[in-house]
Amino acid sequence: MSTAGRPALAARADLEKVEPYVSPQLPARYRLNTNESPYPPPPALVEDVAASLREVALNRYPDRDAEALYGALSELVTWPIDGLWIANGSNEVFLHVFLTFGGAGRTAMIFEPTYALHTSIPRVAGTDVISVGRGPDLRIDRDEALRAIRTERPEVVILTSPNNPSGLLEERTTVEAMVREAAGLVIVDEAYIEFAPDGSSVKDLLVRHPNLVVTRTFSKAWRLAGVRLGYLMAAPAIVAEMARVRLPYGLSALTQVVGERALEHEADTRDVVRKVVEERDRIVAELRARSLEPTESAANFVMFSVPDASRLWDALLERGVLVRRYAGVPGLENRLRVSAGLPAETDAFLAALDEVRGD
Ligand SMILES: Cc1ncc(COP(=O)(O)O)c(C=O)c1O
Repeated sequence: MSTAGRPALAARADLEKVEPYVSPQLPARYRLNTNESPYPPPPALVEDVAASLREVALNRYPDRDAEALYGALSELVTWPIDGLWIANGSNEVFLHVFLTFGGAGRTAMIFEPTYALHTSIPRVAGTDVISVGRGPDLRIDRDEALRAIRTERPEVVILTSPNNPSGLLEERTTVEAMVREAAGLVIVDEAYIEFAPDGSSVKDLLVRHPNLVVTRTFSKAWRLAGVRLGYLMAAPAIVAEMARVRLPYGLSALTQVVGERALEHEADTRDVVRKVVEERDRIVAELRARSLEPTESAANFVMFSVPDASRLWDALLERGVLVRRYAGVPGLENRLRVSAGLPAETDAFLAALDEVRGD
């Protein structure tokens, strides 16, 4: 993996399966590879954050319970404070879940292809990962999924809806059937749910299923990827156990302030989400017109099929357009994923695509 030589002490043997996360942060004019928002947060929010930061006592530890942030989030999502868990990005939320409910001798089940961190984060916490495949349409086969849960009995099942990289929503009835079948927890990662049609979230199932965990992030629709803020909603009994693994003062004073102010500006997110959804739908229509088989994405990105993904990826990058490729990922060898953002970015992507295909 690295050329740095042998460390004085060998790392944990089970970490051999964990590859460090790499997604190139290449200097392209149009960065359409990580599903960030090209729209910065609203100026009024930035002003409010700046004013609040001047009041923060940086010499003091922050509020350990981040009370103001939890209170405001609880109101927004209408879920009790003791059923919320906020951390530095939803990736850290997953880590806390697996430190608490995973670990040696326990397993997590994922349905690939999906978000790569759902493999590595459980493993970092010493949890074995069982990967179940999807059909060529990238959807979960409900019967096969239920059978896998029944036979393997994983402690934790992770779904992503809308899924990354396909953008497809998981069937609500399938999710609920899996939650019923699972003896342990089922996490539904809703990082992109704000871009999906109303009513797509499975949050409402939380009241009926004490083993369901729903995670969300401020990195996408909220346009705050740089802040690192994510959360989960679950039964308070789950959250109470997780308190064991939290480091004291885990949310910095700066993070808390940005989160609190962001929640006050929640209405501003909706307009931008609507614009991004329009671009996504335009990308789908344009790719369909070029017979590139785009997925019916409910997220802020679109996956599509091409005869030679590697060649096209290089050619797009030469033209300043960076998209996501999946070299060596089974089932995705001939697919690319492009983020939806500004109309000008879509134009640049389509122009580069047409130029390359016209070669
Ligand atoms: C499905 C999914 N979940 C979670 C995340 C990470 O979110 P965060 O920035 O909150 O750690 C991503 C980021 O791309 C993602 O695609």
